[in-house]
Amino acid sequence: MNKKRILSGMRPTGPLHLGHLVGALTNWKKLQEEYDCFYMVADWHALMSEYASPSVIRESIPGMVADWISCGITPQKSVIFVQSQVPAHIELCMLFSCLIPLGWLERCPTYKEQLSEIKGKNIKTYGFLGYPVLQAADILVYKAQRVPVGEDQLPHLELTREIARRFNSIYKTRFFPEPEAILTKMPRLLGTDNRKMSKNYGNFIALSDRPEVILAKTSRMITDPRRIKRSDPGRPEICNVFSYHSVFNKEGIDEVRNWCKGATAGCTECKKRLGEIIIETLRPLRQERDKLLNDRAEIEKILQQGNKKANSIASQTSRDAKRLVKFYGL
Ligand code: TRP
Ligand code: SF4
Repeated sequence: MNKKRILSGMRPTGPLHLGHLVGALTNWKKLQEEYDCFYMVADWHALMSEYASPSVIRESIPGMVADWISCGITPQKSVIFVQSQVPAHIELCMLFSCLIPLGWLERCPTYKEQLSEIKGKNIKTYGFLGYPVLQAADILVYKAQRVPVGEDQLPHLELTREIARRFNSIYKTRFFPEPEAILTKMPRLLGTDNRKMSKNYGNFIALSDRPEVILAKTSRMITDPRRIKRSDPGRPEICNVFSYHSVFNKEGIDEVRNWCKGATAGCTECKKRLGEIIIETLRPLRQERDKLLNDRAEIEKILQQGNKKANSIASQTSRDAKRLVKFYGL
């Protein structure tokens, strides 16, 4: 049986959080059963925003890989690798750079959004404008047919398809497939301050947060602003704490709704319960993560194996693509 291939990646720019768990990793784990999966540490993409103090990148990588593995991504089923260890990504990116019209990049909504969201960093660079070109190379260098991503990444996937089409049309070939998104159906979790969950805002619960930290963070979450006194009934449907309960506390969700609407428990109690449930959810992950981080050699071994497999496929694709362009020497 020929499995379809998947590629996805994350940028190592800090600790992973609950948004990564429910939005991506749970899905990544399931996809391993059905697809030939490539999961990539996107360190070149991280450099585009972190180039001025890049140490966060190398410091985040072991923890990120440990988080992946503790969430059930396994090197027995998936290729886990580091983008910068596979030079063919950059070669294909350069090739695509030559044929992608500037307007496609300037119009990209994620580009404009990031420029306004990321404050205090100069990301008006040539490299950052080309972010989706490298992402297209990441995907196409494995000829991946499916890409699990969040909705925010759809414009990049559309550009990837356009780049594949353009390459195929210019060089009269059907070399690159047009990859399709696999959208995660999970509800999007907001940050603890009700804004978009983002490293830029520091409003997340990290998978590596200690229990005390989790309780402190949940206790500060915003509740229904109209529920002032404990005897005031609340509106779970507009409360972010309730959204979290509906993701992590499925069994207790009716109870929480009753507490809230019937004013039988206060928000403080409701948030404490949420904190305890998140702690329990993350406990097995944290144990596995700590174990892995105590054995860095094991993580190294996994990455080296992954890099090797990734390289053998990617270098071949890049060479074939260059051959289609009729590069000298090939
Ligand atoms: N841009 C993605 C993100 O920020 C990370 C990424 C880089 C990626 N290359 C990729 C995702 C290729 C999917 C496929 O989340
Ligand atoms: Fe939100 Fe819970 Fe308070 Fe209701 S009781 S408003 S769900 S925190």
